[in-house]
Amino acid sequence: MAGDGLWYKDAVIYELHVRGFYDSDGNGAGEFRGLTLKLDYLSDLGVNALWLLPFYPSPLRDDGYDISDYTNIHPAYGTLDDFRMFLDESHRRGIRVITELVLNHTSDQHPWFQQARSSRENPRRDWYVWSDSVERYKQARIIFTDTELSNWAWDPVSKSYYWHRFFSHQPDLNFDNPAVREAAWEVMKFWFEMGVDGLRLDAVPYLVEREGTSCENLPETHDVLKYLRRRADETFSEKMFLAEANQWPRDVRQYFGDGDECHMAFHFPLMPRMFMAIRLEDRKPIVDIFQQTPEIPATCQWGIFLRNHDELTLEMVTDEERDYMYDEFARDTRAKLNLGIRRRLAPLMEGDRRRVELMNGLLMSMPGTPILYYGDEIGMGDNIYLGDRNGVRTPMQWNGGWNAGFSNADPEQLYSPIISNPVYGYQAVNVESQRRYDHSLLSWTKRLIRLRKSSRVFSRGTMEILKPQNHRVLAYIREFGNERVLVVSNLSSQAQAAELDLKRWKGSIPIEMFGGNLFPPIGDLPYLLTLGPYQFYWFRLRRL
Ligand code: NOJ
Repeated sequence: MAGDGLWYKDAVIYELHVRGFYDSDGNGAGEFRGLTLKLDYLSDLGVNALWLLPFYPSPLRDDGYDISDYTNIHPAYGTLDDFRMFLDESHRRGIRVITELVLNHTSDQHPWFQQARSSRENPRRDWYVWSDSVERYKQARIIFTDTELSNWAWDPVSKSYYWHRFFSHQPDLNFDNPAVREAAWEVMKFWFEMGVDGLRLDAVPYLVEREGTSCENLPETHDVLKYLRRRADETFSEKMFLAEANQWPRDVRQYFGDGDECHMAFHFPLMPRMFMAIRLEDRKPIVDIFQQTPEIPATCQWGIFLRNHDELTLEMVTDEERDYMYDEFARDTRAKLNLGIRRRLAPLMEGDRRRVELMNGLLMSMPGTPILYYGDEIGMGDNIYLGDRNGVRTPMQWNGGWNAGFSNADPEQLYSPIISNPVYGYQAVNVESQRRYDHSLLSWTKRLIRLRKSSRVFSRGTMEILKPQNHRVLAYIREFGNERVLVVSNLSSQAQAAELDLKRWKGSIPIEMFGGNLFPPIGDLPYLLTLGPYQFYWFRLRRL
């Protein structure tokens, strides 16, 4: 897997939860052995990196983001040896592995916190953030608005308040304490030494608190990240940090530093705007956000996505935009959660295959590394009757048989009910049936991924947005070295025509990439294209 070290730029990442993927021992939850058995499926799909949700020992009150031991595996998911085996088998297939590093907080069950709360004199006391009053850091917002009323929680043991940005059972670590930084580095080292290729750094904006600020994106927080990056670079090569910073592009830009902080960061504001654009049938939201997106250092890369394990977050939109998104995508108010919508891609697209394809076509052709959420490649549905975000974390649907082929356990024993409604249920939506025919969403997604990986123009190229008069059409040129690709997408539910100003590429021949067919050469006149509802084209522009 040698290269220029920038593997994450050319990656197509698949996000999954080991618990939800495949249960090979019949206890109702997936484990590493099960996941290892499914690596051929993932390799055949064409993804070349996996991002695993937290799998560490945990009381599982935030699905594992509440860690009680950073250097072990939750017994329900297997052992460290199982993990090593999974890692080796992934690498053997050319698949990199990205795991979670939850730095900001631990579980309240973590021995560090247990010691810290045991008495005010305990040497671990200063590993967390304590206060005698709830008046400190008043300007910090509450993130889990549906469950938490304050960022302070009362500790009856040591009779003081501790700081938490997420659930109250997730006390924040105190990164002003050098011992905490050291502990974070030790955890990082442990997983990198084992062979993990990248770490998703959870909730990074909140590492450090300062009075009179929002306690987000502080310079001291960036210092911590730069420190960890320096240590990682001194000790390892080809490792990657992916920042989870749900912030505006200018603020996220800081997490790349001068190429000395995080290699990647999610582009949170782009995601809801892709949904807005397709609903409004107008390219404006997408064009606007790219205009606000600053350049990033050459070794860095955006991580782009449509859906993930959380609610479709609407933190990075205006109040009006949020109302619009709720009106259009969460008419059933059960779909709302915190500042977001807890639905999967296919139901958000009302089961419309053309819209699902268009969204994936945009994802795979825009600048950044695309991240697919497990199950979306077959169009899985969700269950908004389950609590919190559990409705988008149901078992993978492998076939139409017992428990969707996910597990031999009794259905009651499963960690979550399987989706079984007539539209998205496992009898209708599953891997085995979609494998059988060429026109299934699964087969189509495979082709899309293959095409995406066929040229570095997508993973490394620049993007120039064109401005055809018809604003229902989004068109851009991706360029890398002497390769050029024109992407044209009809965001509307009706057929559209667009005239593109392609004068600069006069004499080039557009070759439609899915079929390999030649289109008329580009001449002096505006290039006229017609597109059916939600249709899109990728053209390689070949010079004559
Ligand atoms: C972000 C994760 O994506 C989310 O699932 C989790 O609840 C919070 N961080 C807290 O760790």
